[in-house]
Amino acid sequence: MASSQKQLHLNAFLHGTGHHEAAWRHPDVAPLEELTLAHYVAAAQTAERGRLDSVFLADGLAVSANIAFNPQHSFEPLTLLAALATATEHIGLIATASTTYNQPYSLARAFASVDRISGGRAGWNIVTSAGQGEALNFNLSQRPNHAQRYERADEFVSTAKALWDSWEDDAVVADKAAGVYADAAKIRPINHEGAHFQIQGPLNLPRPVQGHPLLVQAGSSEAGKDFAAQHAEAVFTAHLSVESAREFYADLKGRLGAYGRLPGELKILPGISPYIGRTRAEAQAKHEQLNSLVNPEYGVRQLSAMLDVDLSGLPLDGPLPELPAGTEGMQSRKALVVELARRESLSIRQVTERIAGARGHYTFIGTPEQVADEIELWFTTGAADGFNIMPPTFPGGLDDFVELVVPILQRRGLFRTEYTGRTLREHYGLARPSVRPPVQQAALLAV
Ligand SMILES: Cc1cc2nc3c(=O)[nH]c(=O)nc-3n(C[C@H](O)[C@H](O)[C@H](O)COP(=O)(O)O)c2cc1C
Repeated sequence: MASSQKQLHLNAFLHGTGHHEAAWRHPDVAPLEELTLAHYVAAAQTAERGRLDSVFLADGLAVSANIAFNPQHSFEPLTLLAALATATEHIGLIATASTTYNQPYSLARAFASVDRISGGRAGWNIVTSAGQGEALNFNLSQRPNHAQRYERADEFVSTAKALWDSWEDDAVVADKAAGVYADAAKIRPINHEGAHFQIQGPLNLPRPVQGHPLLVQAGSSEAGKDFAAQHAEAVFTAHLSVESAREFYADLKGRLGAYGRLPGELKILPGISPYIGRTRAEAQAKHEQLNSLVNPEYGVRQLSAMLDVDLSGLPLDGPLPELPAGTEGMQSRKALVVELARRESLSIRQVTERIAGARGHYTFIGTPEQVADEIELWFTTGAADGFNIMPPTFPGGLDDFVELVVPILQRRGLFRTEYTGRTLREHYGLARPSVRPPVQQAALLAV
């Protein structure tokens, strides 16, 4: 049904065997499938059948300390997206890449390549890499601190934008008769000299189809929100209640004005992990079945990583210890988990159970109608522009969402029934950026 109503944006967060930490042990899940291209092609095609805006791949740059208990690894996301681009036609393809452990030139080139290969469907989830182990794989003995990581991210993204803009859109003329391939005056160096990077440019590839790939961000600390307000066009975020999501939504949208941006120029997508059954009891049983497969040792290690402290050896049925304020790791996720534990007086074991489903994202258990009601509630009351869908298992959890929930959202006029745009930006209703004049670029890059 065509609709003039505001439309939801839906992203499928592809995550190995599933978002529940015991997904790989579920009877319907084939744990080794996640090491095949076919697994991801099937998921991306399912999401495309549901007319979702995009699929998204997370990434970390070190093997998990928990590898003994869980297949927590993934293919290199841009490599995988290039393959998915050839197996899909419409859906957006978002890859995580770190600003702490990459160089702007090579990453700008890789995203420009995937954007071309996919015909304008690439998105970059910009992360600063909070893990300690990641530093050890990139010539460092310690991760840079939180503030330094966000400072570098700012310069990184500004230079990546300048590199994409180093070719004007009409720089390639391909005039066979005149023997002129490109108008060299429209391909300019960026001559960047900053605190972190010295880059002459220009990029060795024409401007991406979308101008810039869609810029996505997923850190919700104060520094993260300011970074998002300046650079991001979509934000993934974790909230355990609609009230907290509303507060975040108003806060982040309120920061855009300082950067000369309008609220509609950034879409906020909280995570939701839906357990779907024909009845609520059936959905509840699915959730319980997965929870019964959880390994407590794994849970404590996960929680330790999230809080950036070692909880091993503490009594599982005791409370969380007093923790230092703040962290150089994941600030917003630590704050969310500590707040949950204190508010509900949870033991360490209970906290691990609460985050087993989706690492601190919102878990919702119900019938397809109830899931659709919840999505509509958040969407229509200022908590979300859409959702990051985090199926508990693959492929079953994504199939359930696409087959059972999407049609209800479509019937309610809240979600597209056909793709109307061609590029990822068009799916999200975001404008294609024009090339900034060189003088303005230079001013933006002066750091
Ligand atoms: C949905 C979602 C996906 C994320 N994916 C990644 C990822 O793939 N790699 C990564 O290093 N961090 C990822 N993060 C973590 C954030 O980038 C960030 O480190 C974390 O949220 C803490 O940021 P903060 O300190 O600004 O709160 C993700 C966060 C969210 C909400």
